[in-house]
Amino acid sequence: MKKKAFITGITGQDGSYLTELLLAKGYEVHGSVRRTSSLERSRLAHLYADPEVYNQSLFLHYADLDDPTTLRRVLSRVQPSELYHLAGQSHVGLSFEIPETTCEFTAMGTLRLLEILRDLPEPPRFFHATSSEIFGRPAQSPQTEDTPIAPINPYGCAKAFATQMVRVYRESHGLFAVNGILYNHESPRRGENFVTRKICHAAAAIKLGRQRELVLGDTSALRDWGHARDYVRGMWLALDQETADDYVFATGKLHSVQQVIEAAFAAVDLDWSGYVKFDRHFLRPSEPLHLLGDATKARTRLGWSPGIPFQELIKEMTIAELNQLTRTDPKGAA
Ligand code: GDD
Repeated sequence: MKKKAFITGITGQDGSYLTELLLAKGYEVHGSVRRTSSLERSRLAHLYADPEVYNQSLFLHYADLDDPTTLRRVLSRVQPSELYHLAGQSHVGLSFEIPETTCEFTAMGTLRLLEILRDLPEPPRFFHATSSEIFGRPAQSPQTEDTPIAPINPYGCAKAFATQMVRVYRESHGLFAVNGILYNHESPRRGENFVTRKICHAAAAIKLGRQRELVLGDTSALRDWGHARDYVRGMWLALDQETADDYVFATGKLHSVQQVIEAAFAAVDLDWSGYVKFDRHFLRPSEPLHLLGDATKARTRLGWSPGIPFQELIKEMTIAELNQLTRTDPKGAA
């Protein structure tokens, strides 16, 4: 019998990489998709178009975190042995504009899911994709699983609530529930309003003469950036254990937004300095500080380590943008 996994947020960056990983491992993969008029499935398009995969080993279900009845019905029918919870409003800047929506999906959505699992006769192993943003401006750097939770933005607060709830359901209700404390992880499939993708896209578009400038907020901000493909491997490893626990997934290396700019423009052989502009519109009311992860526990217990270095990641993203832009309008290529 094939193992069955269920993924919330299957159409996102991490969901699509995780789907590929699980299919390669022989799983039957199910995922929930939101009922919207324009269904965003482009990251899964290659699997969706494959008749040997779609509706054979990959199944999509209409269900949403704000519709627990449907979610309960779908999960009762599918009976997965593993559930990867990746869905939620994941943009930190946006969470200042839409704090209620952020909490509704990211915090309450997770609690609703935990409540459903608690009632299932055989609850699946549960992976919750939480965030380094739960730490805010930590006194300790790098951070571990024991660093105090002290978020400083609505997104971090929502994730903090969900993270603690996962711990409560693990300890009080005996669920096999894991928090993966994920630091920034990027790829060519990253959403366009995250800074790495925005920069890599702009560098490629400027190279092809299709964009004049790149407008950014705080370019001195530092992050611990890894590759999403490495992080989904960590998710799977975290559930493939005897017991449930929390794990930090991070590279342990800091880079600035400025270094992303330099790496991306270098990948297309351009000098960035004439193109990058500042706009305070992209500044956030507060910035986390020293978000650097210590993944020792994931390394020693799970055998996990990030394989793809920063420079390679940014180069891969920029070249992917260049290829994509050239494909969509070959005549515009310079
Ligand atoms: N998005 C964006 N757009 N960020 C900008 C810009 C801009 O124009 N200019 C500067 N930045 C800075 C942000 O202020 C932030 O300091 C940094 O670039 C990274 O921003 P994002 O790429 O939006 O990611 P994030 O760090 O806020 O959040 C991501 O990582 C978290 C894990 O640490 C998201 O993926 C979260 O969902 C995730 O939990």
